[in-house]
Amino acid sequence: MAGVIGPAVLLEVLMRKTLIAANWKMHKTIEETREFCSELRDAVTEPTSVELVLFPSHLSLSAAVEVLEGTTISAGAQDLFWESEGAYTGEVSGNMIIDAGARYVIVGHSERRHILGESNEVVARKLAAALAVELTPVFCLGETLAEREAGNAESIVTSQLDSGLSHVGDDAISQVVFAYEPVWAIGTGRTATPSDAEAMHRLVRGRVRDRYGEGAASTIRVLYGGSVKPGNARSLLEQEDVDGALVGGASLDLASFLEIARSTG
Ligand code: PGA
Repeated sequence: MAGVIGPAVLLEVLMRKTLIAANWKMHKTIEETREFCSELRDAVTEPTSVELVLFPSHLSLSAAVEVLEGTTISAGAQDLFWESEGAYTGEVSGNMIIDAGARYVIVGHSERRHILGESNEVVARKLAAALAVELTPVFCLGETLAEREAGNAESIVTSQLDSGLSHVGDDAISQVVFAYEPVWAIGTGRTATPSDAEAMHRLVRGRVRDRYGEGAASTIRVLYGGSVKPGNARSLLEQEDVDGALVGGASLDLASFLEIARSTG
């Protein structure tokens, strides 16, 4: 912990509950979702110090919510549209996600930024839309390999953060969960070293501190994502500013997802 911090802030830091999230992307049918969720429910019988959130496809979301009802495990959507309703063929609103019983939504994932062309402005509108209906956004940030090699990783992540938060006021910032996901580490088997990840997480927290103050900076959770596996989870999660993981490929298998969740603490 850099510098001297007061008791109130220290309490906030201690209260940052580790969050392990499963981003299933375009995987798992409704039936496969039900099966995974019921096995997960049976495996997690004790209250845990780790918060677990699953992000199935929109079509499987209700099934996940139904099977996980009565547990401490939550579900979220992988994306939302910024308008609350209307003629937007193919889109899903925050209200619809709430209606399906979900509490979280991923915003600005790099696959949406790079494959579907989402700009920082679109991400900002989606983030605001999520907060407006009291969904907890998992706001993804991360540089490409070319940007890192050009020495621009910090400036890219900072500008993604600044524009994404452009409609987020002091009252809502603590609701935002951040996920640092270097694009070159997603689905590639390459992971940021724990110290590189920690440096970026500090940068994210520092930027939130500059914009919103120490209270917000010490409360927000910053997840790491990008080829997190049972074998590397512990070394990443033990970093001071790494408050959890957003897991893609390794979350599709229950045993490996559980092993990652048990790598904390
Ligand atoms: P990965 O995906 O774990 O398969 O690299 C992470 C993500 O895209 O959220």
